[in-house]
Amino acid sequence: MALRFRRIVVLTGAGISAESGLGTFRDKDGLWTKYDLNEVATPEGFARNPRLVHEFYSARRKNLLDAKPNAAHAALAALEEAAGGNLLLVTQNVDTLHEQAGSRNIRHMHGELLRTRCGPCGHSAADEDELTLERQCTACGRAGGLRPDVVWFGEMPFHMDEIADALGDCDLFLSIGTSGTVYPAAGFVLAAAHAGAHTVELNLEPSEGHSTFAERRYGPASAIVPDYVNSLLSGGRHGGTAIAD
Ligand code: APR
Repeated sequence: MALRFRRIVVLTGAGISAESGLGTFRDKDGLWTKYDLNEVATPEGFARNPRLVHEFYSARRKNLLDAKPNAAHAALAALEEAAGGNLLLVTQNVDTLHEQAGSRNIRHMHGELLRTRCGPCGHSAADEDELTLERQCTACGRAGGLRPDVVWFGEMPFHMDEIADALGDCDLFLSIGTSGTVYPAAGFVLAAAHAGAHTVELNLEPSEGHSTFAERRYGPASAIVPDYVNSLLSGGRHGGTAIAD
C-alpha cells in the first residue's frame, strides 16, 4: 500500500519504551528522580565516581535484557516496511527495542546501552556484561576506562549531520514518547516544519513543544501509535488518500 507521505522521519524517546518496562527520565518515578544525572550521566560524574556510573548502567543493562518491544515499536517497523525504506527512525533511546521489533533504518543519537566504549582508546564493541573498573579493553588492554557507549550531557549526539539532512527533506515528522526538553532532539520539529513537513506529536501528555506540532494525539504509545500508523496505511483522514504506486 503506497503512503501519501514519501520521506518520513520519526523521533522516539523514553515514552515509547515505558510500557515495555523501561523507565522514563522525567515522569513521576523517572530515573532522574532517583539518580542525580550530574553524577551518572556526565563525563565529570564518571571522572568523580566511575563505580557509581558502572552500577547505574549495569542495572539498566539487566533491565533491558528482560524487556520486550511493545505494539508501538511493532507499528513503526510496519510503517518502515510500507514506506519502502523511506523512513529514518531517530531514537534518543539507548535500548534495542526498535531493532527487536524489526525496524532497520535506525540512528541512536544518544548511543547504545548494549555497547561499551574504551575512554582512552575509543574502541567500541557490543557488550551485555556488567561494567567494572577491573575489566580490560579488548583492543588496548587498559582497565579502568570502560564506559557505556552512550552520549552524556555535555557530549555531542551522534549522526547529527545525517539527521539534519533528513529533517530538511522530510514530508512527515512523527515525535513519539519524548518530553521535548533536551536539545538538539527537541528542536527537530521546527526543522521539519520549516521544510514543509506535516508534524505530529504522539505522547502520553503534551510535551514542551506541543504547540509547534500541526497534529497531536495523546495516550499510551502502545495504543495511539498503532492507531496512527493504521490511519496512514489505510489512507485515513490524517494519512490523506493513499496513492497507488
Ligand atoms: N506512552 C507515550 N508516552 C509516554 C508514556 C507512554 N506509555 N509514558 C511516558 N510518556 C511520555 C511522557 O509524557 C514524557 O513526555 O514520554 C516522555 C518521556 O520524557 P523523558 O522522560 O524526558 O524522556 P525523553 O524525552 O526520552 O528524554 C530525552 O533526556 O535524559 C536524557 O538522554 C536522555 O534520551 C534522554 C533525553
